[in-house]
Amino acid sequence: MQNFARKEAPELLSLLGVSHCYRRGKNVIPILIDVNLVIRRGHTCALVGASGSGKSTLLNMLGLLEKPTGGALTFKGHSVQNADADQLAHLRNREIGFVFQSFNLLPRLSVVDNVALPLSYRGVSRRQARRLALEQLALVGLADRAHCKPADLSGGQRQRVAIARALVGRPALVLADEPTGNLDSQTAKDIMALLLGLNREHGVTLVMVTHDVELAKQFDRRIQVIDGELHEEGAHGQP
Ligand SMILES: Nc1ncnc2c1ncn2[C@@H]1O[C@H](COP(=O)(O)OP(=O)(O)O)[C@@H](O)[C@H]1O
Ligand SMILES: [Mg+2]
Repeated sequence: MQNFARKEAPELLSLLGVSHCYRRGKNVIPILIDVNLVIRRGHTCALVGASGSGKSTLLNMLGLLEKPTGGALTFKGHSVQNADADQLAHLRNREIGFVFQSFNLLPRLSVVDNVALPLSYRGVSRRQARRLALEQLALVGLADRAHCKPADLSGGQRQRVAIARALVGRPALVLADEPTGNLDSQTAKDIMALLLGLNREHGVTLVMVTHDVELAKQFDRRIQVIDGELHEEGAHGQP
């Protein structure tokens, strides 16, 4: 639980003058331009914007999956530009949980083994990883499905498994890219209630991409990505 005033919460990550470009043949295509953003611990932040505006690119940078092509990104005091691939993978495994629209579960593994995966990568024993995975499944209401395969579950249940997997390693940050995009509206509401409940009750910092303006209203901050630039509603909390 966070016992500090939310606004003064410590900084988790910061982007200073960050840009990102893709190369297409000889052309360099700018996607994000001079992005300045500070995410503080325990906050929830919604990223909204038109398709193709750069939301996933931004989320992948926040998740240390892609390095900025310019500017400075600092995660928990670590400078990301200067880190090598192994250091970034280590940070991601320890500190960041990902939830994707398409769940990204491994079909051959049972539900509990899917959830245990981030711990296995850390070298946690199989027995201990499974114990922690079961605890996490109980938290998302799926303890009784631990030994099913993902294919035996509904879409909403699969996303709960993915959320349990994202949280099992107690990450500082959970990133979700349109996590309700493949779900019907009631299931989407349930998944959102789960994610926001985890923020309130366990202080998980949550950054989520969504198309849904109503959903975004439930977040502490709403940031719109327009033509590669960020526009924050209310603009409080900006650096
Ligand atoms: N790996 C890539 N190579 C080249 N262009 C890319 C790549 N990934 C994304 N893009 C382009 O970057 C832009 C932003 O993409 P993205 O961040 O996925 O947007 P959003 O998530 O807002 O829909 C799009 O025009 C997309 O085509
Ligand atoms: Mg996207």
